[in-house]
Amino acid sequence: VLAIWHQLTKTEIPELAKCSVLMRERSRVEETIYAMQRAGAGSLQVISDFDMTLTRFAHNGKRVATTHNILDNRLLINEDCTKKMRELLNIYYPIEIDASRSVEEKLPLMVEWWTKVHELLIQQKIRKDLLAQAVRESSTMLRDGYKVFFDGLAEHQVPLLIFSAGVGDVLEEVIRQNHVFHPNVHIISNYMDFDHTGVLRAFKGQLIHTFNKREGALSHAAGLRELQGRPNVLLLGDSLGDLTMADGVSEPQNVLTIGFLNDQVEERKETYINSFDIVLVKDETMDVPNAIFRYIT
Ligand code: C5P
Ligand code: MG
Repeated sequence: VLAIWHQLTKTEIPELAKCSVLMRERSRVEETIYAMQRAGAGSLQVISDFDMTLTRFAHNGKRVATTHNILDNRLLINEDCTKKMRELLNIYYPIEIDASRSVEEKLPLMVEWWTKVHELLIQQKIRKDLLAQAVRESSTMLRDGYKVFFDGLAEHQVPLLIFSAGVGDVLEEVIRQNHVFHPNVHIISNYMDFDHTGVLRAFKGQLIHTFNKREGALSHAAGLRELQGRPNVLLLGDSLGDLTMADGVSEPQNVLTIGFLNDQVEERKETYINSFDIVLVKDETMDVPNAIFRYIT
């Protein structure tokens, strides 16, 4: 049987043989994919992070905008706010990805970052009707192969839960403008609360940051009817915090986690290999998830 699994990656999913694909335990990956294939698309759900997972990390050597960064547009915020948001990014992003700090240590600092940025955004009286234009003018880009990914899941009626610590309203506009906001897509994120004139006055619900997705999974994802009865999970993320996105799945059977390692590669490689089943190093494409999904269906 081992020989069959070995063949699986070599012949059926050649994408898994690329040198940018790292696996702690190839046999476990192959067993899981094989089990998912036997159970079929009807047992599968896909849970994915958004920023730097479904969107690219960089393009032509330049960083691609996250949903928060898309708001950095004169249409929406002034120069002073841009400056303050960039200062906060320069302080907190290195902390977010710091391999030498624990999640416990990062947690309060992430709350601080998100809270400060959301307060700044609220002060700017952002107008809902200008968000679409800001998205159009931004550098945001979904990963190569995104259309095959979104369209394939929709075609096979596999639910896609996008679980993002970014800004939900902006995220929706990004996937709408890319024509992939299909009916099988469900989103958990930080949504803006606009007053009756369409001006931002608050953010709705419990704040979601990089390291508290477990709470959101238990309170929101667990209740989504469309995800019930699908015990096999393909999870995609770029942060260690993303690994908790499937914590709301009741009685999971086969869970395969794929981690995009975009930044601080050498520093984080070992931890990523020990945490995700498959690690994709500086891979700006959806080729591996697409190949696995193609095999499963
Ligand atoms: O969709 P996802 O959960 O990945 O969104 C969170 C990401 O957005 C974080 O990885 C963080 O680096 C980024 N972020 C940002 N600006 C902020 C807050 C978060 O670019 N003000
Ligand atoms: Mg991310």
